[in-house]
Amino acid sequence: MTTTLITGANRGLGLETARRLVAAGHTVYLGARDERRGREAAERLGDAARPLRIDVTSDDSVKAAADRVAEEAGRLDVLVNNAGIAGPYGEAGDLTADDLRAVYDTNVLGAVRVLNAFLPLLRAARAPVVVNVSSGLGSLGMNADPEGHTDLLPVYVPALAYNSSKAALNMLTLLYARACPGIRVNAVDPGYTATDLNGHSGLQSVEEGAEVIVRMAMTGPDGPTGGFFGNHGPLPW
Ligand SMILES: NC(=O)c1ccc[n+]([C@@H]2O[C@H](COP(=O)([O-])OP(=O)(O)OC[C@H]3O[C@@H](n4cnc5c(N)ncnc54)[C@H](OP(=O)(O)O)[C@@H]3O)[C@@H](O)[C@H]2O)c1
Repeated sequence: MTTTLITGANRGLGLETARRLVAAGHTVYLGARDERRGREAAERLGDAARPLRIDVTSDDSVKAAADRVAEEAGRLDVLVNNAGIAGPYGEAGDLTADDLRAVYDTNVLGAVRVLNAFLPLLRAARAPVVVNVSSGLGSLGMNADPEGHTDLLPVYVPALAYNSSKAALNMLTLLYARACPGIRVNAVDPGYTATDLNGHSGLQSVEEGAEVIVRMAMTGPDGPTGGFFGNHGPLPW
């Protein structure tokens, strides 16, 4: 049995990833910060989906979630750090430090909280995997040359808070991969996907967007670590 946790799994890409991994035979802890929304989402996926209350901005909530998984499963095979927010839109100069703080608390510090709390459970697994759901908008290479990457990034948005938070998540991915050689840790870009995050303006479906998340969640023991991948292969950092 493969035990998997997906944060922010009550809707959007997280929910679709949960649906696919349940279908692949995983027992999925469906992370949601709201208990009712988590329960209702899990009920749609059947018995192999277990709702787990987890607000990634709260140390106490993350610890309680890790304690429950430890008690029930004793290990964690796959962690998908998916919870994320777009935050306020603004270019450099338009936003305050407080605007960025709220976005970083979820997209960056949230991943650190969850990783640290679940590392002991990941280390107890035979071939543990972490997937950090990042974005092409967090790529330094793409932000340095958006015109040169229109094949990879069909819509470029110079969002100060969101893009810089995902750049930080990419660096966390590299450093956790380096520090934890026994765990395959990768970042993925689902691509511009129609979800609540962007008012459903995304150009692809959640089924298409979740593809790379699912693929990296199911990477075998010989799979890559410390990489950044999109649906069509490696992406520039
Ligand atoms: N959609 C895209 O085009 C796109 C492209 C690249 C990357 N991504 C990334 O993909 C991930 C999923 O995004 P999505 O498009 O599926 O967005 P979404 O539909 O808005 O879903 C976001 C999920 O994150 C949860 N969440 C937010 N803050 C949280 C917190 N503090 N603790 C726990 N859960 C929290 C939300 O829970 P609530 O329901 O309680 O709010 C929701 O379940 C994000 O990391 C996003 O940055 C999306």
